Amino acid sequence: MENTGTIRIGNENFEFPLIQGTEGEVALDTRALRAQSGCITFDEGYGNTGSCLSQITFIDGEKGILRHRGYPIEQLAENSSFLETAYLVIYGELPTTSQLEQMRQAVTEHASIHTGMHHHFDGFPSQSHPMAILSSMLNSLGAYYPEMSSNDREQDLAHVDAAAAVLISKVRTIAAMTYRMKQGLPFVFPDCNRSYAENFLHMMFSQPYNNYVNDKGAADALDLFLLLHADHEQNCSTSTVRMVASGGANLFASVSAGVCALWGPSHGGANMAVIQMLEEIHEAGDDGSRFIEAAKKGEAKLMGFGHRVYKNYDPRAKILGKSAEGVLQNIGIDDPLLAIAKHLEQAALEDEYFVKRKLYPNVDFYSGILLKAIGIPVEMFTVMFAIGRMPGWISNWKEIAENRKSRIHRPRQIYTGAALRDFTPAEQR
Ligand code: CMC
Repeated sequence: MENTGTIRIGNENFEFPLIQGTEGEVALDTRALRAQSGCITFDEGYGNTGSCLSQITFIDGEKGILRHRGYPIEQLAENSSFLETAYLVIYGELPTTSQLEQMRQAVTEHASIHTGMHHHFDGFPSQSHPMAILSSMLNSLGAYYPEMSSNDREQDLAHVDAAAAVLISKVRTIAAMTYRMKQGLPFVFPDCNRSYAENFLHMMFSQPYNNYVNDKGAADALDLFLLLHADHEQNCSTSTVRMVASGGANLFASVSAGVCALWGPSHGGANMAVIQMLEEIHEAGDDGSRFIEAAKKGEAKLMGFGHRVYKNYDPRAKILGKSAEGVLQNIGIDDPLLAIAKHLEQAALEDEYFVKRKLYPNVDFYSGILLKAIGIPVEMFTVMFAIGRMPGWISNWKEIAENRKSRIHRPRQIYTGAALRDFTPAEQR
């Protein structure tokens, strides 16, 4: 293949280099376009825009492929754990036994929250959304580690390993404390003898008089859920983290912004919306068929379906669908929502509307059923996504911070407002 590409504007040709990724993806490097031609590219929603070179995650949406640092998600889901995959995503290689043990210890040591932060919870009304609390708390957390959140690149990078352990560990504690606060329940301290996922369930569900017992595979299912959310290249929240990081902001501020971006129903908020949709379908006595018809008419959106990048089955949805079924069986729950979800999926996969638009189930389609089965309230679903995505945000922040040549992210626009006009005094308006 030629290693340049040409853009013709009016009568003039402009030649630009092509960039090729390790998996054969090609980009036209138009960084000099405006300087040479006075013209910019317009790509609202960034569907055709590469915002960075990244070594973390590879997705081929047409083929339904997802790999972290070269490893297929199916192999990681089968053989790895959330913490091991987090290490891989952040540091680029699978850890040795001692590296993994070191990470486990660091995460365990950082599990509790400064008692000063306990009081922050008092300031939130009990009806606050957990994502609002999480975002505020993660930004506040940086204030307790000023040496890690200095906004001085070199200094923040010197502490990035500790900051990563603090965030991966404490995002889980903050999430559990948020749930307890909203329920009016006392906080439960972390238990250093439990695994990452089990410790979370303990902080959520143990009572001072009754310890949470993980005997139905809930912690394993949760670990898998977290692993499957560990990273997903330049999605809305990760791009937000990179955008904030590009201005030099510290890791805590950047991931806090990531939480806000994740909250929206088109992104991480979809996992809540899927369960709400399935419950509405169930309450209306529909098996999903009426809902499909409404979606085709544009009157409803099939939440958990469609993706900007995947034009094939999201590989995470396949794994989660199977896992959700297994968890329901283990726990002995017969959730009618699973049958509706399966029927919706089947009907949509055979329907011309969905086939033509290449709309397949995404990660959020079955994740809610799994979370609900292990007792996580719907309002906490997007928080669970945030806990899982933390390694990806950290890794992307690190990639920006370690790149000495990285520039502040500052897109341009095409102005379509009023043309030049003179100020009119108030009495003449
Ligand atoms: N139900 C019905 N129709 C849909 C859906 C859906 N879920 N998603 C897309 N379409 C239609 C859309 O109306 C459009 O039709 P037409 O060509 O006739 O105008 C066509 O498919 C293309 O859709 P689009 O809106 O251009 O696609 P997008 O790439 O801008 O949006 C999306 C992607 C994920 C925001 C969208 O598919 C959606 O809103 N899905 C439901 C929400 C959801 O599940 N989000 C989670 C995404 S995965 C987790 C994550 O990474 O956050």
